[in-house]
Amino acid sequence: MPDRAHAPQHAYLFADPAAHSLSPPMHRAAFAHAGIDGDYAARRVLAADLPEAVAGLRASSVLGANLSLPHKESVLALLDSLTPAARAIGAVNTIICEGGKLRGDNTDAPGFLAALADADAPKGGLSVVLGAGGAARAAVYALRQAGHEVLIVNRTHARAQALAAELGGRAAWPETAPWSAVTLLVNASSAGLDAPEDSPLSTFSPATFPRLAPAALVYDMVYRPAETRLLRDARAAGLRAENGLGMLAHQARLAFTAWTGVDVPVSVFLEALTSESGSTALTGDAAP
Ligand SMILES: NC(=O)c1ccc[n+]([C@@H]2O[C@H](COP(=O)([O-])OP(=O)(O)OC[C@H]3O[C@@H](n4cnc5c(N)ncnc54)[C@H](OP(=O)(O)O)[C@@H]3O)[C@@H](O)[C@H]2O)c1
Repeated sequence: MPDRAHAPQHAYLFADPAAHSLSPPMHRAAFAHAGIDGDYAARRVLAADLPEAVAGLRASSVLGANLSLPHKESVLALLDSLTPAARAIGAVNTIICEGGKLRGDNTDAPGFLAALADADAPKGGLSVVLGAGGAARAAVYALRQAGHEVLIVNRTHARAQALAAELGGRAAWPETAPWSAVTLLVNASSAGLDAPEDSPLSTFSPATFPRLAPAALVYDMVYRPAETRLLRDARAAGLRAENGLGMLAHQARLAFTAWTGVDVPVSVFLEALTSESGSTALTGDAAP
C-alpha cells in the first residue's frame, strides 16, 4: 500500500451524464475493504470543462480518475503518458496520478478478459465482436492479445473495416459470417442499452439468432437491463450467456489496484453492484 494511504485519498469519475453512476458504490466498498481512508465521487463534466477537471487531478491527495462517455478519447491529449493498451485502443478509462504526473490506462480491455475467464469462455477460437465504437476497440484489442481470431460486425460496415485495418481482425457481413464456427459472440455495441427489445442483430437481415457452435458463449457488455434481448435469444437457442456486470466490476477492480496497489477481490465490487440493483442504478440513466 502506498504511503499516501495515510492521508484521505480521492478518486473521481468524469462523465456526462454522471448521475446514478455505479462506480461510487463499487469503489467506496473497495476502500472500506482495503482499510484505506478514501472516497470516490462521480462528477458531471461537460466536454468543454474536461481540461480543467483533468488539471485538478494533479493535487497530491488525488489517486486518479475514471472516464466515461464522452471523454475516453478526448482525454488522451491531456495526459503525460499512456500505457501501451491505452495507446493502441485509443481510449483511456483510468487516469493514475503519480507525483503530479498523469498516466492514462485502459482497464476495460483486461477487465473484459477477466470477465470472460470468470464465465469460462472458450480460450482462443473464432470470435465475433458486434460494434465498432470505443467498447468494440477494447474488445478487439483484448481478444487479439488473447489469441482469438476476430470478426467485426457493425451496423455501419465501413467503421468495422476501419477498426479491423487499425487493430487487426476482419470486418464481416452478418449474412456471410461463418457462424457455426463462432465460439464467442460479444455485443460491444450500445444496442439493447435501456432498450429491452432492441438487439444488435435486429438491424441485420435476416434478424434471426445465428446458429453458433454448441459450446459458444454470448457476452453482452450491456448490463442495463440485466437481461437484454440478445441474452434472452441466446439462452433460448441453448447457449450460455452473460451480461456486462462482470466486466464492469473487473475494470473497476483493476483501476482500484492501479491507484492503491491493493488487489481487492472482484466479489467486493460485484456485491456493491448487486446491492445497487434495487435502486435506479441498473435501470436508469447510469454511467459506469
Ligand atoms: N460492461 C462494461 O464494463 C462496459 C464498458 C464499456 C462499454 N460498455 C457498453 O458498451 C456499449 C458500447 O459503448 P461504446 O462506448 O463503444 O459506444 P459508442 O462508441 O457510442 O459505439 C456504439 C456502437 O454501437 C453501434 N450501435 C448503436 N446502436 C445500434 C443498434 N441499434 N443496432 C446495432 N448497432 C448499434 C454503433 O454502430 P454505428 O457505427 O453504426 O453507429 C457503434 O458501433 C454501451 O452499451 C456501453 O454501456 C460496457
